[in-house]
Amino acid sequence: MAHKVVTSNYQNKAICLLGLLVLTPSMMQTSDATQFPVGGTGIWSPKSTNYTHWAEENIFTVEDSIAFNYIAGQDSVLLVNKGDYTNCSTGSPIGKFTKPVTVIKFNNLGPYYFISGKKDHCLKNQKFKVVVTAYTNQTLPPPPPNGSSAVFVSFIKYMGAFAASSLLLAF
Ligand SMILES: *[C@@H]1O[C@H](CO)[C@@H](O)[C@H](O)[C@H]1NC(C)=O
Ligand SMILES: *[C@@H]1O[C@H](CO)[C@@H](O)[C@H](O)[C@H]1NC(C)=O
Ligand SMILES: *[C@@H]1O[C@H](CO)[C@@H](O)[C@H](O)[C@H]1NC(C)=O
Ligand SMILES: *[C@@H]1O[C@H](CO)[C@@H](O)[C@H](O)[C@H]1NC(C)=O
Repeated sequence: MAHKVVTSNYQNKAICLLGLLVLTPSMMQTSDATQFPVGGTGIWSPKSTNYTHWAEENIFTVEDSIAFNYIAGQDSVLLVNKGDYTNCSTGSPIGKFTKPVTVIKFNNLGPYYFISGKKDHCLKNQKFKVVVTAYTNQTLPPPPPNGSSAVFVSFIKYMGAFAASSLLLAF
């Protein structure tokens, strides 16, 4: 009986150790960047999808990127400030991208405002805002604007990775 308990403890420890070994490399990664197809499909057009809804449903971290696909010459991607986003003003973008597939990478925390380069498309809600809330690595916690929320999001991401490795171990 006692022997059995000892064995079982030993097994638990072995499993924990294994878990640690599997988990450690993924936590040491400095980048597990994701490329998101815009709207979930990658299609950048006024009728494609509710981009705002899509952006709200996803968590974006520094080094993640978004890919926009459209027909060259028929659309474009503008990175703009908040006022131009609100008003669909296409005249003075921060960045203008005309080559499909356009891939835009987030280099910093904070909000990013995207609109179609065609004003009438923007007015049909071909626009969205992304708030980048965390770095992908946890080794150097960012000084986020306003407190702990960014760290918390990052933590959730890693709990996901942990759950995945645990699952793998179970089989
Ligand atoms: C974590 O990521 C940030 C942003 O990508 C980078 O500046 C920093 O050097 C990284 N830290 C480590 C320890 O890799
Ligand atoms: C798009 O999604 C946003 C956020 O979920 C929502 O507030 C808005 O009403 C939606 N727009 C349309 C046209 O359905
Ligand atoms: C947006 O448009 C409104 C109405 O035309 C105007 O009052 C406002 O100044 C504009 N905002 C920006 C940031 O251009
Ligand atoms: C966000 O930061 C600003 C400036 O530090 C501060 O005035 C504001 O109260 C903060 N908001 C929250 C929700 O913590």
